[in-house]
Amino acid sequence: MKATAFFRRPLVTALFAVLTASLFAADTNSAPRERLLLDPGWKFHLGNEWGLAQSLAKAGTGSGPASKSFSDASWRTVNLPHDWTVELPFDPGADAGHGFKPVGPGFPANNVAWYRHTFELPESDAGKRLWLEFDGVFRDCEVFVNGWFVGHHESGYSSFRYDITDLADLGGKNIVAVKVDASQFEGWFYEGAGIYRHVWLVKTAPLAIAPDGIFVYSKFKNNVPEGDAKIHIQTTVLNKLANRAIATVVAEVVGPDGKIIGSAQSQDGAGPDAQSGFEQTISVSKPVLWSPETPKLYKVVVKVFGADSTDHSANLKETVDLKETEFGIRTVAFDADRGFLLNGKPYELKGTCNHQDHAGVGAALPDALQYFRVAKLKEMGCNAYRTSHNPPTPELLEACDRLGLLVMDENRLLGSDEENLRRWEGQIKRDRNHPSVAIWSIANEEFRVQGTPTGKQVAQTMQNLVKQLDPTRPVTYAAPVGNEFQGINSIIEVRGWNYHIGTNDMDAYHAAHPAQPNVGTEQASTVSTRGIYGNDKIRGYVSAYDTNAPVWANRAEAWWSFFAARLWLSGGFIWTGFDYRGEPTPYGWPCINSHFGVMDTCGFPKDNFYYYQSWWTDKPVLHLLPHWNWPDHEGQDMEVWGYSNCREIELFLNGRSLGRKTMEPNSHLAWTVKYEPGTLSAKGYNDSKVIAETKVETTGDPAVVQLAPDRATLNADGEDASVFTVSVTDAQGRVVPVAANLIHFELSGPGKIIGVGNGDPSCHEPDVFLPQFSARPVPLNDGWRWKKLPNIYDPKLAELKTNFDDSSWDTANPQSDSGPLGEREQAVFRVKIQISESDLAARAVELRCGKIDEDGWVYVNGRLAGESHDWQAPAVFDLKPFLHPGENVIAVAVAKYGGPGGLNKGVTLEFQEKIVAPEWQRSVFNGLAQIIVQSTKEPGAIRLTASADGLSPATVSVPSQPCTPRPAVP
Ligand code: GAL
Repeated sequence: MKATAFFRRPLVTALFAVLTASLFAADTNSAPRERLLLDPGWKFHLGNEWGLAQSLAKAGTGSGPASKSFSDASWRTVNLPHDWTVELPFDPGADAGHGFKPVGPGFPANNVAWYRHTFELPESDAGKRLWLEFDGVFRDCEVFVNGWFVGHHESGYSSFRYDITDLADLGGKNIVAVKVDASQFEGWFYEGAGIYRHVWLVKTAPLAIAPDGIFVYSKFKNNVPEGDAKIHIQTTVLNKLANRAIATVVAEVVGPDGKIIGSAQSQDGAGPDAQSGFEQTISVSKPVLWSPETPKLYKVVVKVFGADSTDHSANLKETVDLKETEFGIRTVAFDADRGFLLNGKPYELKGTCNHQDHAGVGAALPDALQYFRVAKLKEMGCNAYRTSHNPPTPELLEACDRLGLLVMDENRLLGSDEENLRRWEGQIKRDRNHPSVAIWSIANEEFRVQGTPTGKQVAQTMQNLVKQLDPTRPVTYAAPVGNEFQGINSIIEVRGWNYHIGTNDMDAYHAAHPAQPNVGTEQASTVSTRGIYGNDKIRGYVSAYDTNAPVWANRAEAWWSFFAARLWLSGGFIWTGFDYRGEPTPYGWPCINSHFGVMDTCGFPKDNFYYYQSWWTDKPVLHLLPHWNWPDHEGQDMEVWGYSNCREIELFLNGRSLGRKTMEPNSHLAWTVKYEPGTLSAKGYNDSKVIAETKVETTGDPAVVQLAPDRATLNADGEDASVFTVSVTDAQGRVVPVAANLIHFELSGPGKIIGVGNGDPSCHEPDVFLPQFSARPVPLNDGWRWKKLPNIYDPKLAELKTNFDDSSWDTANPQSDSGPLGEREQAVFRVKIQISESDLAARAVELRCGKIDEDGWVYVNGRLAGESHDWQAPAVFDLKPFLHPGENVIAVAVAKYGGPGGLNKGVTLEFQEKIVAPEWQRSVFNGLAQIIVQSTKEPGAIRLTASADGLSPATVSVPSQPCTPRPAVP
């Protein structure tokens, strides 16, 4: 493509009153842009029995599942996002870092899978540009549309898109097939496998805003929010018309209250297949500033009007595009002395690093779970999130924008090669409108190269690219070194600190490099297990007292008290907010997930949660540990800890005071208490006034199952999800902190269970339960006849029809490895089959050919049922739509170009029968488990029942309300 130099030409940019802009009043409904979700209804198959799908010899001939006529009727239907790793059993022989799931090196049978989606496109799409957008696929994938290869994408974390306009069948059926290969890891942590983020079909006019073609940012004089905010809007318009076009871009800024604040209008031309850049500025006086505490969002509405400039009848005021982009008005900066500055003021980052998986669902989170997790972090007092160690899911950023978390947006791999820079550019362009994004991180812990001159050069190139694409945000690198300045640290804008707290490292470095700002990119790595109060190597549990951290890491209190005393460090990011699958430090198997989280994989708080909450929030916090169910410990000394931000804490056992102690900031209090069952309680005082109270009680035996959804209602959009807490309580409703009962779940109504978990790092119970499929294979190797013919390409050929008399033809043996056709020969193979009414009750009737060598066309009762162009791979066709009760005729036309070929390696008819729904269950771990329920598109009451042997069951009903689902491909 020829690209017009961006923003080089002087542009007609003007500030207009709202009235002026209305000359070009866009009718939202007539703007052709559509962004349609392509998540529901994919067919999925784990395995690749078809070899290479892409033909390099002939165009449009993707084979196996890549071909248009392939039958996927026997495949499971899945909705995206989907992660197949979570469906596999745990395996002690698999990679510990990836959570002992049998994928990756050593597990070829589980590494490659296929997804297929069939959808119709209307004829009215003629003239539009059609884009297929993938938010993220793990990992290496090949995408085919209607048998055509459209692209190969190799990174499991970056978003990508393809223009599929040329390949689309308008007025017909379209098939997207994606072959996903997860053989190679990108990280050292659980990464999942599959299309684990959303897929979209985007339709635009031929003259339209380019993909990622809007950049909006705010600027104030001196980067402090005084006076008017200048909103800069850069729009790239892409002209896919045959001739030069004239485009008028009107941008409107809309305030958090929905009122239009200002608008600007510019006009420019763009040649065919070229882009044109527009830069506009709109002033906002007295802006409402975005911050984690006040996440107020503005919106820029960009409208494009225009047409082919050589066509005199064209209407230059025609609305060709309209796009809304949310943004926030705020300033960020890192200062060498004052640390991080938000809106001009010091603002300590109280952050967590996180990977992207959650209990039950692996890496495939419905958007509602992103919001659930962000809300949990905020409850802890967190104000920042590091997307370690990869580009995030877009909806995570959206949740951070809307609920209020600052984001360190991290790249996966350091590199200035063409491909890495393309991905880095894509990440910046995709994410730079999000007000939550406050800093870019070029990479994490590149041990081997970070101190070298080459590493430094590569980092400089990546940092320079940020500076070209985003004038508002600084750049960091998560450096796992102490007082070392060589290599990347010497050029990076903000020095990132992974661990290495201490005066010899941080203080000495700061003294030696006083002009370089700092941030705690990764700290803590404290290890603990929810509800466990002693290390247990056999079961793989670590005490939840804040006493354990690997050698490179620190206890919660150690790192935070160090940072809290040094504002210039800007605060930092805990490793990690949530436990994640993989990296089961400090023990290996049977642990399958990390112990680093302040919360477990479900988001249930560990005790450290309250340490952070005490010092990261202003609300009164008072929390005691451990639990008080210790029947074997009567009369023994127990260590009791109190987390609180109250100035003094008084502890009581069964009503007797055990003394009042003064809390030092950023620390905890401890008492040694002789255990007796009953009630351990505490009061928190400020200036002798009780401002918080808490208690832990010795509970009775498990008696009742309880269910608590996190949402009072769901949206009946097929996407929304509620996270239910499952607890086992005693008869008085107190959670039994040692309960381990197995809970069975039953769901009725318009919802489905998508995952279960319990936060136990050593639990090997399944997180998902799959439907069982059954099929009845019937060999179809007898009764075939064949005949060589000069030209089998004509579909009207009598030999392909039902009533043709083939009794004089030779008998064929479709079970041989090759033959009977020779070089450049063609033939038809025919067979008669009897089909009953009950056969046709099957979901699908598949014809499975071992191989059709070389090109093949399958006719059933004279109608073309499919074609095959891979001489090596099995070919599968669904014949059900072509069959009727009684006698049916299958005719396979085969053309061979090279050596011997034919209909070979056996033929089977496979009747796809019942699908049996799974039964879901999960044990509680220390009293708690989690079940994630997703709505369907039907409104109604979703009823969930949880029961366990010997306990009273619970039933909860959550209304799923009618709503307008977001636009989706029908
Ligand atoms: C860090 C690394 C993280 C994680 C962590 C565990 O060095 O950046 O990805 O492995 O250690 O403590």
